[in-house]
Amino acid sequence: MLTLRSESATALKGDVHLPGDKSISHRALIFGSLAKGQTIIRGLLEGDDVMSTRSALMQLGADIALIDDQGDRHWRVNGLGLGGFKTPKAPLDLGNSGTGARLLMGVIAGSGISAVFTGDASLSKRPMARVTDPLKEMGAKVEARDGTYLPLTISAPDQPLALAYDSPVASAQIKSAILLAGLTARGTTSVTEPKASRDHTEAMLRHFGAEVSGHIHEDGRYTAALKGESHLTGRDVLVPADPSSAAFLAVAATITPSSAITLHAVGTNPLRFGLFETLIEMGANITLSNKRQEGGEDVADLTVVSAPLKGVTVPAQRAASMIDEYPILSIAAAHAEGSTHMLGVEELRVKETDRIQLMADGLMDAGVDVETTEDSMTVHGMDQNSIAGGVTIDACHDHRIAMAFLTLGLTCQKPITVTGAETIATSFPNFTDLMNGIGAKITTVTA
Ligand code: S3P
Repeated sequence: MLTLRSESATALKGDVHLPGDKSISHRALIFGSLAKGQTIIRGLLEGDDVMSTRSALMQLGADIALIDDQGDRHWRVNGLGLGGFKTPKAPLDLGNSGTGARLLMGVIAGSGISAVFTGDASLSKRPMARVTDPLKEMGAKVEARDGTYLPLTISAPDQPLALAYDSPVASAQIKSAILLAGLTARGTTSVTEPKASRDHTEAMLRHFGAEVSGHIHEDGRYTAALKGESHLTGRDVLVPADPSSAAFLAVAATITPSSAITLHAVGTNPLRFGLFETLIEMGANITLSNKRQEGGEDVADLTVVSAPLKGVTVPAQRAASMIDEYPILSIAAAHAEGSTHMLGVEELRVKETDRIQLMADGLMDAGVDVETTEDSMTVHGMDQNSIAGGVTIDACHDHRIAMAFLTLGLTCQKPITVTGAETIATSFPNFTDLMNGIGAKITTVTA
């Protein structure tokens, strides 16, 4: 088990090239495998989660190889075309990855085959019925532990039924699973969400040749619709740097005095950018330059200079666009003048951990006052240099909990220790090196 310790630091400085976007990386491998012909992916996140998806796709018959052609490092996917997957001989073990598991459930439901899904201790506690219920409406047969947990078996119908699904939650994993199953259905499959979740599936399906529309209703609901029996054709994909990984360095530079860093080619899709919007509202000094489109996604370079923060209220409507960023926002909030209220965040309770509980417990242990309800969290900010720290946090198989508390260590009076820090490799394998590269002091206690 990896234990890391983070000590107080001064003046983070430097230029950072972050690893690829996790959501887009999963999708590039999945869509490349479902497409006819070859897909070349540059900038793929080589984290444990994405590699679990790769292994599962290879068990289904896809050919996915890392090519290093004289320094041109890329992944080559030889796709099988829709209907080309074969029933896997062994269970698909998706490790820690909710995205890999849930998207592949949709893929299996549309592939005329069956598969058993397993995962690690964290994934095995996460509810899957939110995805399998609509897939059942499309004709899939599902057997799950206690009706919702892994291990779980999905058996696909010969051809899925098209579905118009009204989702109770704004979740890109639910939406994507249904659309992926709908690829082989006759007619149009649509998903309506209470608020738009990240739209990487819609964008990439279009890039691979499917007919997909996205429409925001007057009341803020959003519908994505896909024409079934579409064909996907292999394409090149360029993966932008992950804004969810950039978030940790942006907060680190904001709260560490005299810092100035630049984060290159970060994805700025508005449906992923809520944390940056919030930080700027709080007074953070973040500027976007060199705005451009790469591989069909908006990207920009972000320059972050340290700045004092003020507490704000983060509205529930913004939650979907920053759902993975609340752990690191609560660290920023601990440094703000006044209180930060995070509303409508009940989904945090079913992530890799119950993130409301873990952030509140860890922050309170470290000396920060936090209040929670079932669907909200309030962090009362502290004066500069007054957070005691000196605590040990168990990451509990949650990469973002681990990285959030290591970031807190940068400004505490005493170091923060994180056990189970190997989980960071699921989304951000070189986190420690990049942080230390700009001046953090994160050391290994036990490897
Ligand atoms: C993801 C969607 C989000 C997010 C997860 C990645 C995706 O989950 O938390 O890290 O790639 O579709 P939900 O769709 O459950 O909100």
